[in-house]
Amino acid sequence: MTENLKISGGTKEQKYISLLSQIKGLVAGENDSVANMANVCAAIKYGMGYFWAGFYLVKGGELVLGPFQGPVACTRIRKGRGVCGKCWEKGETMIVEDVTRFPGHIACSSLSRSEIVVPMKDKTGKITGVLDVDHDIPGAFDLTDRKYLEEILGLLGDASL
Ligand code: SME
Repeated sequence: MTENLKISGGTKEQKYISLLSQIKGLVAGENDSVANMANVCAAIKYGMGYFWAGFYLVKGGELVLGPFQGPVACTRIRKGRGVCGKCWEKGETMIVEDVTRFPGHIACSSLSRSEIVVPMKDKTGKITGVLDVDHDIPGAFDLTDRKYLEEILGLLGDASL
């Protein structure tokens, strides 16, 4: 499943530590933001075994689908709408244990059960997009995901757009 990624260890934290060092290697020699976002979401989805991982980027006052891995998804999300739009509005990471209990959740796939959305910021603190990761079991995401996904976004730096 992980193919050319080598994810070692059994716990979620061990997997993220392994993933993080490989993502550092993947983005180190590349400054093209689309290329880096594409590899980052592939590494997260296949490295961690999640259902969907991808970026929505702020364009023209809304979130527009960017590089992703997983089933096809909705292309545009307005501020305050769904988990992604709420994350953009609040400027903070959102963890949703059960998407059926999140008012306004946008169901791109009926298989998605839980979700984490992390804001992507430029160096002035302005939100340039969000990283959305979904899984097909409830309660898949916790503070370990938050810690490492925020760290992974930090590696994209200003190359996020
Ligand atoms: N569920 C998200 C929409 C994006 S898809 O899950 C890929 C939301 O509620 O914002």
